[in-house]
Amino acid sequence: MNIKLSPSILASDYGALRDSVRLVEEAGADYLHIDVMDGRFVPNITIGPPVVRALRGSSKLIFDCHLMIEEPDSMIDAFAKAGADIITVHAEAARHLQRTLSHIRSLGKKAGVALCPATDISALRYVLDDIDMALVMTVNPGFGGQSFIPAMRQKVADLKEMIADRPIDIQVDGGITLDNLGEITSAGANVIVAGSAVYKADDPHEAVRLFKAGGRHE
Ligand code: DX5
Ligand code: ZN
Repeated sequence: MNIKLSPSILASDYGALRDSVRLVEEAGADYLHIDVMDGRFVPNITIGPPVVRALRGSSKLIFDCHLMIEEPDSMIDAFAKAGADIITVHAEAARHLQRTLSHIRSLGKKAGVALCPATDISALRYVLDDIDMALVMTVNPGFGGQSFIPAMRQKVADLKEMIADRPIDIQVDGGITLDNLGEITSAGANVIVAGSAVYKADDPHEAVRLFKAGGRHE
């Protein structure tokens, strides 16, 4: 299977962001996962469009922006302009989800929807034609370094079945390591977010290589 790796800069040194991005780009990452938190949807605040714009100037990676924010409609244009390539909103935060997704696509960007662990995949059933990626949160959003929630493996498998042959990527985010990567990808995930497992590894470059090779047990 063609696995795409999207390292999350949430786990990197924010004081040296440009170097952190360059590191994973040179190591062979496919995307850059940018966690945007507003202190309302999740109890944490991270970065906004100015930082995305600053990084855009020095990276060719696909910018995968995960908006953990309330009322995402108000920020979509700003992230699109700043250089996002994929814009993912939470189903729990977008009141008129289909409209939001159409808007993202109208800006020429890929549209994603994220589901918190307790949210049923049925939230996606009637917007399958409007999305390029479905993000299964494998931890509760808000922080890096949490443990993978085992029930999410079945959720990924159920989602894979629902998606059938549509061209929709399944992304997983939270607690993914080289040790559980195999079970997640065999359930159907093909875009892997990894924060701590890349940036806190002894050798992040090697960690990227191992993720791309399918993990430790394959
Ligand atoms: C959590 C974020 C994740 C986080 C993943 O709210 O959405 O992207 O950075 O970090 P790890 O891989 O450390 O769980
Ligand atoms: Zn994320």
